[in-house]
Amino acid sequence: MDYDDLLGLIKQRRSIRRFKPDPIPDDIVNKILEVSRWAPSCGNSQPWEIVAVKRQSVRDEIVRILNDDYVAKGKEPPAGPAQAQLFIIVCANPENKPPARLGNQVNSMFYSTLGNAILYMAMAVTSLGLGAQWVSHIADPAVDGNIKELLGIPTTWEIFDMLAVGYPDVEPQPRSMRSFGEVVHYDLY
Ligand SMILES: Cc1cc2nc3c(=O)[nH]c(=O)nc-3n(C[C@H](O)[C@H](O)[C@H](O)COP(=O)(O)O)c2cc1C
Repeated sequence: MDYDDLLGLIKQRRSIRRFKPDPIPDDIVNKILEVSRWAPSCGNSQPWEIVAVKRQSVRDEIVRILNDDYVAKGKEPPAGPAQAQLFIIVCANPENKPPARLGNQVNSMFYSTLGNAILYMAMAVTSLGLGAQWVSHIADPAVDGNIKELLGIPTTWEIFDMLAVGYPDVEPQPRSMRSFGEVVHYDLY
């Protein structure tokens, strides 16, 4: 892959929030999951634990927990998660936080490490012709206890974020991105 291919894939990746009902073959699911463990991690700590939920009845229960909380907060539940065919929940065992010798910034390194695993999978999703929506609500303290109980995730672990994955049923609108000149500052701000 050269730079133009990489930039093309990066530009192609979009948040998809409407999915077709088509199931995702297991080999495709595994290809998405495989890239997560190659993500860079601070001190090579690899703190991620990934729960991939394929079974419809379990996904339905997750959606119910999330939607009940939306309704309790007077918000409209999003449609995407109920249509997606795969939930990828990225968790972390805080015991695998980077070692203190790496400095005071271990917390920020821990979370950017977890974000790397998510982004790698989001890129794999795009490369395979699928789409994904971040469902950050999964980490809300109002729901994460119920999600852990449902999935048997240890209470000491952190639920970091979730990707809801499926075949896109929508063409995303062009997005507005800040320009190179606005974002990049050579030498001094
Ligand atoms: C850390 C993170 C959390 C996000 N959480 C959500 C979310 O909970 N629900 C959602 O619909 N989109 C979520 N998004 C998607 C962003 O809204 C989206 O990336 C942004 O609007 C740019 O659109 P694009 O992904 O199509 O480029 C999240 C993105 C990131 C990086």
